[in-house]
Amino acid sequence: MYFDTHTHLDDARFNADRTEIINKIYASGVTLAVNIGADMKSSRAGVLLAKEHPYIYAAVGIHPHDVENLTEQDMAELSLLAKEPKVVAIGEIGLDYYQNDVPRDMQKKWFRRQIELARALNLPYIVHDRDAHGDTMAVIQEVGYFRGVMHCFSGSVEMMQELVSLGFYISFAGPVTFKNGKKAKEVAACVPMERLLIETDSPYLTPEPYRGERNDSSMVRYVAKEIAELKNMKEEEVARITMENGRRFFAI
Ligand code: NI
Repeated sequence: MYFDTHTHLDDARFNADRTEIINKIYASGVTLAVNIGADMKSSRAGVLLAKEHPYIYAAVGIHPHDVENLTEQDMAELSLLAKEPKVVAIGEIGLDYYQNDVPRDMQKKWFRRQIELARALNLPYIVHDRDAHGDTMAVIQEVGYFRGVMHCFSGSVEMMQELVSLGFYISFAGPVTFKNGKKAKEVAACVPMERLLIETDSPYLTPEPYRGERNDSSMVRYVAKEIAELKNMKEEEVARITMENGRRFFAI
């Protein structure tokens, strides 16, 4: 049984067959999944999906690509959504300096504010960090609340070790299976097993051998398989431990 800790089931790419896919995922052995918010619309949609489906939980939050028009009123609504019974985290939040027009100061401001929201509600948070490692660490240190996970981690072994020492979890998605994913493989091989999570980030980041096709949570097994090979473990063992870790992290 697998826990996909990061998926976007509300994404428009699932509009034609969402219920079918949700049933297929569960039948494939993925018995827990967290739908991740990226803007107000997807945060609301995630809460509804979690109400409809027993094995789906939700995180609510605003992705760095979507903070430009965020208002205090939105923050107030986000805070209300976060109090819904099956909302287990704030996310995804963070910094994205890759082809992103949103000013960096604005991204940092809302990243900080959303970590503070997580702290105020006693929830963990999910970090998106793309090409922004230094500033991501700086904001996290500045706020000083460390109940977080680095989603689809792309930093160095040193950065991973620093995060783990602060109390962070480290999560891997499809890129760890890519042939050119040397750095992610190197980090995954040495993440302490008790701090590791797995995810798909579906419909994006499809793992090998299905790279290029639409991703869904049933493919989280390929991430587990790759990590098992890197750590010289059995795939079922990786599935079992990441399930336990995910339940502990999200308090499910
Ligand atoms: Ni995502």
